[in-house]
Amino acid sequence: MEKVLTKYVGKKDSHTLRFYKSHGGYEAFKKALKMKPEDIIEMVKQSGLRGRGGAGFPTGLKWSFVPKEPGQKYLCVNGDESEPGTFKDRIILEHDPHQLLEGCLICCYAVGIQTCYVYLRGEFKLGAQRIQQAIQEAYEDGLMGKNILGTDFSCDFYLHRGAGAYICGEETALLSSLEGGRGLPRIKPPFPAVSGLYGKPTIINNVETLANLPHILNRGVEWYTSIGPKNNTGPKLFCFSGHVEKPGCVELPMGIPLREMIDKYAGGVWKGKKLKAVIPGGSSVPILHADECDVPMDFDSLQKAGSMLGSAAIIVMDEDTCIVDALYNLMRFYHHESCGQCTPCREGTGWLEKIVARIEKGHGRPEDLELLDEIGNNMVGKTICVLADAAVMPCQSYIKKFRDEFQAHIEEKGCPFKKSKAKTA
Ligand SMILES: Cc1cc2nc3c(=O)[nH]c(=O)nc-3n(C[C@H](O)[C@H](O)[C@H](O)COP(=O)(O)O)c2cc1C
Ligand code: SF4
Repeated sequence: MEKVLTKYVGKKDSHTLRFYKSHGGYEAFKKALKMKPEDIIEMVKQSGLRGRGGAGFPTGLKWSFVPKEPGQKYLCVNGDESEPGTFKDRIILEHDPHQLLEGCLICCYAVGIQTCYVYLRGEFKLGAQRIQQAIQEAYEDGLMGKNILGTDFSCDFYLHRGAGAYICGEETALLSSLEGGRGLPRIKPPFPAVSGLYGKPTIINNVETLANLPHILNRGVEWYTSIGPKNNTGPKLFCFSGHVEKPGCVELPMGIPLREMIDKYAGGVWKGKKLKAVIPGGSSVPILHADECDVPMDFDSLQKAGSMLGSAAIIVMDEDTCIVDALYNLMRFYHHESCGQCTPCREGTGWLEKIVARIEKGHGRPEDLELLDEIGNNMVGKTICVLADAAVMPCQSYIKKFRDEFQAHIEEKGCPFKKSKAKTA
């Protein structure tokens, strides 16, 4: 596939306004300014663009929920990118910040928004510098601020940096954090499109989602929908990590089988080893056994296969991976990142961590696997946000698909992999 979102990654000065404009930058926004806002929303709906932040919600539909009446509305760009295994938004932020900002301007014009906040993961130092510089360049060029390019449309942009909490990527926690409070998620409804930042209608979209917009405007719906399978359209960034020969971020159409992706675009499983399991969409989604890896990599196919595309972060595990140890690592993460508001999540993530830890360390009890399942069932769907579900999904799927390995840890009072390694040594 022709590269679209990452076409200029690695090119000298790709982050500057001069470079961006000399390659057709901001022409899509100029085109948008000549269109009726409702026609842009319709075009985005027709393109089939689905959110790249995790849930795959249709972008045009989300925009159409914002009340049409004039008044203060906000766009918040979700650049928190904290899902383990995910490093795609960072590439856009660092290498092509104007692509994102042009997407934001198109969204703001279409939805009637006059204020945009770009919320970035605190650790993204270079990304923050590049966005700040790009905002300044855009203001100096009349692309932001009052009466943009001589029209009635005005829009201000602000950069906001997070402080290192995974939960601030959850859209309502992001709003609480932007307002200056602790990053605590809020109960939905009301949804942010109706009552979001400071109680005003707010669109929250992922960096990659917004970066798609200039291309939809420039090249049209027919071109956009020709990429990928029906209902899973447009260019997509996939992140490969774990036990592969060539980790990295690759732009591909959706719908390619997972195994083919790993072999062709990530150099295959490293060191000639066999594949054991893959997390196809970031740490929060159910794991796939090696036998299940012929699934096409798109939102709908992965859902049918019992997992999710999530943030399209593909984490590969080779035959020597201890699944119990891998799960213990994740359970520590979710317990640490729970904001603590809801009892099932605050207590549940702690119990999951402790029980998986004792299995891993050789102190597991025969009834522990049922106990983990029961705790998980008491967490899913019973909390303010889905961080609790995000902890339970890996836990239950790892046990379901690799039950023998968990049982072996309990029966043999420790990790069979470590023991066999010790014997060979
Ligand atoms: C715990 C948690 C963490 C999340 N982290 C991110 C994140 O880092 N970046 C992101 O874009 N979306 C993240 N999301 C999803 C957002 O809540 C939201 O669905 C998304 O930003 C919407 O944008 P989209 O429609 O363009 O995908 C997270 C969700 C949860 C529950
Ligand atoms: S589910 Fe967990 S992270 Fe989400 S609001 Fe409740 S306690 Fe906080």
